Amino acid sequence: MLWCTSPTASHYHWQLVSFLFFDNCCFPLLLSLTGSNFALCHPQRILAADLVIERNTACKPKPDPSTLVFGKQFSDHMLTITWSEKDGWEAPQIKPFQNLSLHPASSALHYSIELFEGMKAFRGVDNHIRLFRPMLNMARMHRSADRSCLPLFDKGELLECIRKLVEVDQEWVPYSQDASLYLRPTFIGIEPSLGVSRPGRAMIFVILGPVGPYFATGSFNPVSLLADPSFVRAWQGGVGAYKMGGNYGPTIAVQNEAVKRGCQQVLWLYGEQEEITEVGTMNLFIYWTNEKGERELVTPPLDGIILPGVTRQSLLDLARDWGEFKVTERSVVMKELLEALDAGRILEVFGAGTACVVCPVGSLLYKGEMHQIPTMQNGPDLAKRFHKELTDIQVSALKVRGNREELLYPEVISCVFFFCLTSLFLTAD
Ligand SMILES: Cc1ncc(COP(=O)(O)O)c(C=O)c1O
Repeated sequence: MLWCTSPTASHYHWQLVSFLFFDNCCFPLLLSLTGSNFALCHPQRILAADLVIERNTACKPKPDPSTLVFGKQFSDHMLTITWSEKDGWEAPQIKPFQNLSLHPASSALHYSIELFEGMKAFRGVDNHIRLFRPMLNMARMHRSADRSCLPLFDKGELLECIRKLVEVDQEWVPYSQDASLYLRPTFIGIEPSLGVSRPGRAMIFVILGPVGPYFATGSFNPVSLLADPSFVRAWQGGVGAYKMGGNYGPTIAVQNEAVKRGCQQVLWLYGEQEEITEVGTMNLFIYWTNEKGERELVTPPLDGIILPGVTRQSLLDLARDWGEFKVTERSVVMKELLEALDAGRILEVFGAGTACVVCPVGSLLYKGEMHQIPTMQNGPDLAKRFHKELTDIQVSALKVRGNREELLYPEVISCVFFFCLTSLFLTAD
């Protein structure tokens, strides 16, 4: 059986209670009662129970997973949920994938009142489809909405709408352990006015598309990085910690500059000390022998300029769970990295993100000099281990170890519920 089928009233109730618990909010249990009357009384909440589904009658053939190119193919359906100051949240709709019709003055188009998320659904070896720690994405989206002056939403209800969308398009989740279905929740201001102010109208939409493996050859390919302090991705007091579209467009020219100088990605530096922050659109990890001679995994702290990645959190959770080496969230500056390189203390440097899980770094172009990083020469043992652990959790329920296994049964538990639990487990001390 794939997924849970339409939940029974009591099952649904159960899920909802769990969402409310994870959302750390205190709506009454009465909310699990479904029906549009409720929507009329409480329009300020998204209500998954009010979902209206219009099936696509002209579904497309599914692409061969081995030919997939990121972001080019889309599934047959999409989710839209609109909000207005006057009427609150309208009933969520799943409908055939289609163009949006927007007023040309829409605030998203003029002032970048836009944010998004990136997450994946995996088809497991048991043929169940699972989302990976989706509540972390919902929480990040909620924070981005708050910072963007977009209306706040119920994270559990939105996740249930997304789960339903994936269920409708479940045949788009590739029958392959190397490919997955990418989910792109997006939130835009659609206020039809040129005033620079909080939008009175907004829309959440979610589109889906199958994606192939990041490393096409099946082996880790190290990337080369341009580290040029004259380019800055994010700054203190800015919005780098939020997943807003406005953070990404301006990086394309820098990425092009990196390619011009013979590198594949950008190592983002910040401030006079040239703090190492992120790599491309990934969080950065350094595995080294520190100055005290200890094995240590270091990643920059969530101090406002780092995007709180779901993968970053998962690697930290796993490494702390293993307890085999020191795990530290602290800033590392370029000088420190270069000194450690010279002293032969660097073991591995890698990026971490949903797209690749982990991506080894092989070299660094800094002030005209190319520095070799011995990530590949060292296995990369740690990067490979992280990759295997995470992909095992994502696609192979049966391989999940220890007490995590208990969380997988009974199998009738829906995917979303399962991952809420997993999320809790992974973040537990
Ligand atoms: C700037 C940036 N950093 C890090 C990440 C990694 O985050 P995640 O692990 O949630 O994909 C992303 C990708 O979303 C990103 O855009």
